[in-house]
Amino acid sequence: MQKSFINIGKLYQVRAEGTNLLRGPIMADVPFLENAWMTVKDGLIEDFGKMEDFVPSENEETVDVKGCIITPTFVDSHTHLVFAQDRDEEFVMKIKGMDYQSIAQAGGGILNSAKKLQETPLEILVERASARLNEAIKAGTGAIEIKSGYGLTTTAELKMLKVIAHLKQDFKIPIKATFLGAHAFPTEDKERYMQTIIQEMLPEIFSNQLADYIDCFCEKGYYSVDQMRTILEAGQKFDLKPKVHVNQFNAIGGIENAIEFGALSVDHLEVLPDEEITLLKDSDTLPVALPGCSFYLNIPFAPGRKMIDNGLPLVLASDFNPGSAPSFNMSTINSLACIRMKLLPQEAFNATTFNAAFALELENEVGSITKGKRANFIIGKKDKTLNSISYNFGVNWIDKVYLNGEEF
Ligand code: NIG
Ligand code: FE
Repeated sequence: MQKSFINIGKLYQVRAEGTNLLRGPIMADVPFLENAWMTVKDGLIEDFGKMEDFVPSENEETVDVKGCIITPTFVDSHTHLVFAQDRDEEFVMKIKGMDYQSIAQAGGGILNSAKKLQETPLEILVERASARLNEAIKAGTGAIEIKSGYGLTTTAELKMLKVIAHLKQDFKIPIKATFLGAHAFPTEDKERYMQTIIQEMLPEIFSNQLADYIDCFCEKGYYSVDQMRTILEAGQKFDLKPKVHVNQFNAIGGIENAIEFGALSVDHLEVLPDEEITLLKDSDTLPVALPGCSFYLNIPFAPGRKMIDNGLPLVLASDFNPGSAPSFNMSTINSLACIRMKLLPQEAFNATTFNAAFALELENEVGSITKGKRANFIIGKKDKTLNSISYNFGVNWIDKVYLNGEEF
């Protein structure tokens, strides 16, 4: 059945089918229609236009949005949403002065999450992850990527990916699964663990089609560039495109090597030398910045302003995880990008919707108000504007979220 949304104050992010990734000055523009209507059919955006041209059709349901704005839902292209427990005790350690690396050395960090996840049954993990995803959708997320990487044994990594497979079945939004077995080393014997990833995990993941992408935490004290290359090469044999963690604390060559492996995206980029901006500009690899992580860990923000000024197609994501970014709120990500990276609200919005869809190869499905895309959109509260999303930090501007044309 057809549904019409009428009296839309501003219908934002209206784009023609096939519009390219946004880079440079055009990132500052979010096209909109004022005083608009939009029709939805079979879960997809059917058509839209100005109210003066609206012709009601028979047998349709009409929703009068009374002058409120409509935007597409956010696309969160980098999360670690499946985990056993929060790590709020580390929050307190951090306040008292410990940094990310020293907390990890003191028994916290990724290995702490892995231990807890290994002990937690799949059903409980599904239940907890579903509760979080439910909240993330209410906060406006309408497509998401979720990583493994808190398992670090074959059984536990597969368990995490199976949790994601359950979420894919249970939720009506596009979900992409990324295999992050190379998140940390669970043992001193690094070579043996790498072989476990390559010989045990990857074949099993491939035969059960449990992952869409492969990831690796390329960083001093985690995976070296050579180790990342070995992992990505193995991933290639199983058709897994890389989306990798690089340049969070140190620039050790991860970007150049990820580009060589045809990475879809390089994520974090808090430390980004000019030469690497140039490398990215000449590549098809997308730069993904994670301002929630910089804010929470109190580390430098990725140079988002500079990336846009240099013509890069910036993407922003939440990095939602219990250790370095405990928020999935994409409006907060917009605020942080504006306030701390000096992005304009329109640039932040494009980086969390239209461009972000490309970082999950979902550009034909979500990220804008485009005929034929999924009817995943947000109706704002009264008097909210596009600026409100980032300006009113920490304030909920969302009245309703629609997925596939149905209220969530
Ligand atoms: O993206 N940097 C590596 N991985 C996560 C943090 C993981 C954790 O601390 O649990 C991140 O920030
Ligand atoms: Fe991450």
